[in-house]
Amino acid sequence: MTILKLTSGSHSDQYNPSVIKVLESANENELNKPSPEHKSSKVDQLAESKVNEPKIDKLLEQKVDNIDATSCITTKPNDTKDYLLILSLKQNYKIILNLSGGAFGQVYIAQIISKDSQPRSKELQVETKGTLLERTKGYENRNYQALARKVCAIKIMRPKREFNTIEKTLKSSEVQFVLNVPYHDNLLQSYGMFFNSEASTPQFCLTMEPMETDFYETINVRAREKKPFKLSTVKNILKQIIDGLAHMHKHGWYHRDVKTENILCTRTGSFYSEEFIKEHNPYLKYQEYVVKIADYGSTTKILKPMEKPSKSFGTVAFLPPEIALEVEDVSYEKMDIWGVGCIALDLMLMHFYVFHAETAKSHLKSLLSVMDDPLTEMSKVSKEKLTPEVKEQFLDLNKALLDIGMDPIFLKNCQSGGVKSLQKRLDNFASEWKELASVVKLCMSWNHYLRPTAQGLADMEVFKDSVAEVNHDIE
Ligand SMILES: Nc1ncnc2c1ncn2[C@@H]1O[C@H](COP(=O)(O)OP(=O)(O)O)[C@@H](O)[C@H]1O
Ligand SMILES: [Mg+2]
Repeated sequence: MTILKLTSGSHSDQYNPSVIKVLESANENELNKPSPEHKSSKVDQLAESKVNEPKIDKLLEQKVDNIDATSCITTKPNDTKDYLLILSLKQNYKIILNLSGGAFGQVYIAQIISKDSQPRSKELQVETKGTLLERTKGYENRNYQALARKVCAIKIMRPKREFNTIEKTLKSSEVQFVLNVPYHDNLLQSYGMFFNSEASTPQFCLTMEPMETDFYETINVRAREKKPFKLSTVKNILKQIIDGLAHMHKHGWYHRDVKTENILCTRTGSFYSEEFIKEHNPYLKYQEYVVKIADYGSTTKILKPMEKPSKSFGTVAFLPPEIALEVEDVSYEKMDIWGVGCIALDLMLMHFYVFHAETAKSHLKSLLSVMDDPLTEMSKVSKEKLTPEVKEQFLDLNKALLDIGMDPIFLKNCQSGGVKSLQKRLDNFASEWKELASVVKLCMSWNHYLRPTAQGLADMEVFKDSVAEVNHDIE
């Protein structure tokens, strides 16, 4: 079995040709040809940095010792939702493409070779009604190419931390999110979950609908090809993300790792069939991408931590200041909104102002180099909005910056004249972009109270008519 590596350098257009090839010709032998060599992108670097991890081929050779492969379902008393299959990965899926390796797992594209295209226990089918695992009415219209070709994405968790025992896996946010949040068009759908009976230690696998690529790669390619997004496309992408977030927030869940790599997309024309678009909503063809929020590994049901938030979740360069500074007053809901602001900036400025820092301190330094500091921002807030709690948060942030030796005034004076403020950069956009630019600025306020909620964003005039409605219930 050959595992192909995703090669960003070989993109001929804005989509990942390897994945497209898989989706278009999943049954052909062609799939095993290696892709051309390339200079590594961030995703590849991640994959390469894991060279010492056991390769999946090796894992598949391993014999089961401590998992009873004959029992199909493991149950845990007191919670009827806790049913998980133990399945042979090798007998049910053929891995055809290695997408990436992250902190928690490795993601592959696989062909489903079992008789039942989505192996599940009966119990799981009952229990998943109304969740992200459910095949909702009209599901065959969505991602129809992948479904027809029996292709899925599969995330194989590293056997560490929350995935090293069955009990912990069941409690993990990745599993709990999928089992508790009802289906939504902008949240990546899961097809199933199971433990690999061939692995010697519990190896949890989550199967999902396969998407063509993520926005980190999409922006990379479009930046290289100097193909910026149109305003309508940026708004459409953002609105789909916002709708997905508003849905999870409504159900009391927060993502906490909203960033371009965790937002997946497929071209609308590949996601829906031509007939479906024609018959159902012709406006769909004006939308470039179908967008899905993915990676539920950092999700939580807690709105605010009881104690100071730990930094064991999220990605440093996408952390809002209050989390990076570890002040007490934080909101995970608004942490997600900060992420929306970062993604919006990225889509508008094509990676020009993505923050790359790897430590909280250098991240804060980058923020201070392109944005107002907390006290300057506070001086611009209208009297009605400057409530005592808003004021307190500004002062807390300023104090926390001083406490770690980052005096905003001193830093400002040190800045070289070459640093251009984000505001100035956004001001260069044509007038029709201004409204969106001001919304982005709101999402990236130092003060989480001043950031809008996801529903508040969804209701804004700027996103009105940005997304064509898709009613899957039609036959
Ligand atoms: N369903 C999918 N379809 C296509 N690509 C995917 C899918 N799921 C994940 N990926 C790719 O794999 C990467 C890592 O997956 P993710 O779930 O974010 O794992 P991690 O927890 O390691 O960050 C994503 O950034 C994306 O590029
Ligand atoms: Mg991720």
